[in-house]
Amino acid sequence: MNSVKVKVINQLKDNYSFIIYSKNGKACVIDPAESLPIIKFIKNNNLKIKDIFITHHHKDHTGGIEGLIKIFPQVNIHSPSSNIENTKFILQNNDEVESSINSFKIISTPGHTLDHIVYYDKNNKILFCGDTLFRLGCGRVFEGTLNQMYSSLQKINEIESKTVIYCGHEYTMKNLTFLETTLGKQNLYLDIRQKIESEIEFHNQSIPFELYEEKSYNLFLNQESKIGELIKKELKLDNFELFKYLREGKDNF
Ligand SMILES: [Fe+2]
Repeated sequence: MNSVKVKVINQLKDNYSFIIYSKNGKACVIDPAESLPIIKFIKNNNLKIKDIFITHHHKDHTGGIEGLIKIFPQVNIHSPSSNIENTKFILQNNDEVESSINSFKIISTPGHTLDHIVYYDKNNKILFCGDTLFRLGCGRVFEGTLNQMYSSLQKINEIESKTVIYCGHEYTMKNLTFLETTLGKQNLYLDIRQKIESEIEFHNQSIPFELYEEKSYNLFLNQESKIGELIKKELKLDNFELFKYLREGKDNF
């Protein structure tokens, strides 16, 4: 369908916020870290913002709420927790929520934080995954357990492969270097390295990215890819053990 556009907004040091908007001038915002760049884009493009959606309670995903409410007092804040400032609608696993331009299915993904949710727009084939999945990596496990994070990533792994993913941080090159170094299989990552380097050269960012590609290269997400099977055999690990090996390795990298 692809009836909406997504504007990626650079925030803070390496954060991303997103404005989803359509030709008719309606818009919603995901994870505003800072308000000013978002307000600027909304005003410059004559957009009407009605909803803000939050993936989890960390300040670098919510810091812009207050500033946006000051300028757009009519906006509704949707989030997974009443602890998140100004939340009007609390979202849970499997909820369906409508904005003025699209609809999301909510998938609960505890691990990085316990309240973490991701927003899946099936019609437009886009996913906003906050700090659960990163390109070639995943979020640190701050509040949940490794088991929870593993299950949360499996939920994303089951989404339709053609989905385009927008994550909360630009960590891609660090994640790629970690995988190459830890797995010792640089040759298997040559193609994707070349692709990502050229994306960064042209767009200064590696976001968004595609789920089908992650399923091949991101071993935090999928341990049953060609590379995953090879590594599991070499290291004598099962799926979860490989995820654990990588997540713990990355914590100390
Ligand atoms: Fe976070």
